[in-house]
Amino acid sequence: MTDTETAGAPPARTQAPEVVFKSVRAAYGRIEVLHGVDLTVPAGSVFALLGPNGAGKTTLLKVANGAIRPTAGSISIAGVDVRKDSPEAFARAGVCAIPEGRGVFPNLSVRENIRMWTYQGGVTRAEAEDRAFGQFPRLKERRRQLAGTLSGGEQQMLAISRALVGEPRLLLLDEISMGLAPLVVTELYELVGTVAAAGVTVVVVEQFVSTALRVATRAAIMLHGRVHRVGTPDEMADAALGAYLSG
Ligand SMILES: Nc1ncnc2c1ncn2[C@@H]1O[C@H](COP(=O)(O)OP(=O)(O)O)[C@@H](O)[C@H]1O
Ligand SMILES: [Mg+2]
Repeated sequence: MTDTETAGAPPARTQAPEVVFKSVRAAYGRIEVLHGVDLTVPAGSVFALLGPNGAGKTTLLKVANGAIRPTAGSISIAGVDVRKDSPEAFARAGVCAIPEGRGVFPNLSVRENIRMWTYQGGVTRAEAEDRAFGQFPRLKERRRQLAGTLSGGEQQMLAISRALVGEPRLLLLDEISMGLAPLVVTELYELVGTVAAAGVTVVVVEQFVSTALRVATRAAIMLHGRVHRVGTPDEMADAALGAYLSG
């Protein structure tokens, strides 16, 4: 329990939450793909979620985002059980998910994409643009361009700008580096570090193990719908290789 909670005040928006999954099961139709996930993501950590294709990483992020309701088990964010909450409640709790692929509207301009994120309130259009363009001047140059015509890296910058505009407390990133040049990936992960330092808990799913482990403070390997190992980034570097080979 934190000082603010003991004082009876609501926790500050910038306070990074701990996320705890307990015996979480999830299914698509009748096919169960998470078979009892136990995982604690420490408050303020950059948590790398590793594992081969089909291990259940994206599904677990969707559970953490409220997009999929688990069939059993519990998930708590900052000590609050959110399993039965609506996706909107997750958003209000400060959960922001950047989905696999490009989380942008290709037929809207850069500027219009940024404006979409202000509809939840809390931030003006001007503030939103300041934050996104301040971090990524290249987006400002291209503000009138349709998002679908940006390069892959630029689209991903735009997608990640959402994390700057919305001031999330929990940021979930699913394979943000897919298909991008290494230099762009480095740039994106520098931003992830900056966001985390501002008091955000970050979970990154990443195929590029070494990239993810460079920014991570803690890591886990998922295999076949379960958490296989948890440890420090150093401990997980070798373990991940083994898991990928056997998985
Ligand atoms: N929409 C879906 N409908 C049915 N099965 C799905 C769906 N999405 C994922 N799956 C299955 O669930 C399992 C876990 O997938 P996923 O969470 O995407 O794994 P990862 O992100 O680790 O690659 C896989 O076997 C996958 O085929
Ligand atoms: Mg995935």
